[in-house]
Amino acid sequence: MPMLRIDVVTIFPVFFEEVFDFGIIRRAKLANIVEINIHDLRDFTTDKHRMVDDRPFGGGDGMVLKPEPIFAAMEKLVGTSDREKYPKETRVVLLTPRGKVFRQSIAREFASDAKHIVVICGRYEGVDERVSDALVTDEISIGDYVLSGGEPAAVVIIDAITRLLPEALGSETSAVYDSFTENMLDYPHYTRPAEFRGRRVPETLINGNHAEIEKWRREKALELTKKFREDLLKEKGDE
Ligand code: 6GU
Repeated sequence: MPMLRIDVVTIFPVFFEEVFDFGIIRRAKLANIVEINIHDLRDFTTDKHRMVDDRPFGGGDGMVLKPEPIFAAMEKLVGTSDREKYPKETRVVLLTPRGKVFRQSIAREFASDAKHIVVICGRYEGVDERVSDALVTDEISIGDYVLSGGEPAAVVIIDAITRLLPEALGSETSAVYDSFTENMLDYPHYTRPAEFRGRRVPETLINGNHAEIEKWRREKALELTKKFREDLLKEKGDE
């Protein structure tokens, strides 16, 4: 049994064909830390035309995702379409521009609390409201802009969550030092050559001792955060 099972429900399953087969996520899958299953919403329809969307009651542009296939998907994937009966560590996420904006603190919460996450990729035109009313535990957006669907957002949140699972990063690196972990951006990084086209790597990194390097990194992280994301420094913790 993997530590975390993720089921993605989408009308574009092909979109996800290789996206989770690289780097840390691929490794986490191979190490059985995470299991990621992609489900075609059409497979949960029962009508001849496999219809997943329909015109909005009350008129207007665009199509709305129908409730029946999404309810059927929850019954198959979670075992019930009654949110009150979900196992405690199950989260059903609807990706929608109206959701709570995703950030590192939410990724951390999902990585530490959830054993099963079902991700429903919305269409920007809309999802029948009864899905939110009865099935969804968390509505999430990845930022204040409009995507045509939740699929790119699913990749973003699954990446951010998976890399935080214990053992996912391996021993050579650690999420403890990530940007945003302490509401701070990362410090600047350099590798060889020590001089490239007239630009020198800061002397402290080449000849400094461990304590001086740590101090330099802390100062630079603070300086970069002030310069690019002063809003992070003004936040009280997270939330
Ligand atoms: Cl999760 N979905 C859509 N359609 N647009 C978005 C989004 C999600 N997050 C930001 N914009």
